[in-house]
Amino acid sequence: MNWYEDMHLWSGFSEVLFTPERARAAAEVVASSPLFAFPPGSRVLDQCCGVGFFTEPLARHGHRVTGVDLHPELLERAAAACAAAGVKATLVRADVREHVAPDAYDVVVNMYTSFGYFDDHEDNLRVLRNAHRSLAPGGHLIVDLLSKETYASWAGTPKVVDVRGGMVVMRDTILDDWARYRTDWTLVRGDRAEHTSLTCYVYSAAELRAMFVQAGFEDVECFGTLDGGPYDAGATRLIVRGAKARPR
Ligand SMILES: C[S@@+](CC[C@H](N)C(=O)[O-])C[C@H]1O[C@@H](n2cnc3c(N)ncnc32)[C@H](O)[C@@H]1O
Repeated sequence: MNWYEDMHLWSGFSEVLFTPERARAAAEVVASSPLFAFPPGSRVLDQCCGVGFFTEPLARHGHRVTGVDLHPELLERAAAACAAAGVKATLVRADVREHVAPDAYDVVVNMYTSFGYFDDHEDNLRVLRNAHRSLAPGGHLIVDLLSKETYASWAGTPKVVDVRGGMVVMRDTILDDWARYRTDWTLVRGDRAEHTSLTCYVYSAAELRAMFVQAGFEDVECFGTLDGGPYDAGATRLIVRGAKARPR
């Protein structure tokens, strides 16, 4: 089994990935970021939506949202979040390598480092191609992730994150001359320790920009914060946005 297919990873470490602070931050981004200022009623595809941290606020802001994820348990949590907020979203269990709905969306988002998971670089490119095919002409794709540049500023230093009744220790190993990395996570609670690891491609801004172009996007721009700040030495994330051309 590939690591991203292992529900145990997502549920075991859900306290680190899916925190209330992250839910609040995502809602704030959707409410105020110029990158998310889509026209009301936009058709939005949330690739790898997880528990709906972006799906739910996007729906609350009046957009017609479809969330796609591999794991039914996470989609159930996304559905519960939408129900609690009194909004509707279409939630689909699918692999992002396969999910394509030609010309069906005005916006595709792929948030919080949900990109680069596949061992074959071509599969990662395929996720961008699928987004391109799924967008209507004039539509935009937004991918938000940790880039090679931002990751390099802290990779190599093990991190400890407190969770309820324990802690998670995270260690990173750089692989294949900085093409990929492995993160080893150990959750320690009392006398028990659980271990899991994941291996991901880590792309630089220039590499991801080139992949957007290869997938057919134009007007490709990079940002360094989710509120649209520049991709410079102060960047905390990499956000790449590209447009699907309108017929000339
Ligand atoms: C880091 S989480 C981010 C979730 C969400 N975008 C957020 O901001 O909280 C990555 C998500 O990708 C999903 N995922 C992993 N591999 C996938 C695949 N091949 N197809 C669809 N979803 C996938 C996982 O189930 C998980 O929900």
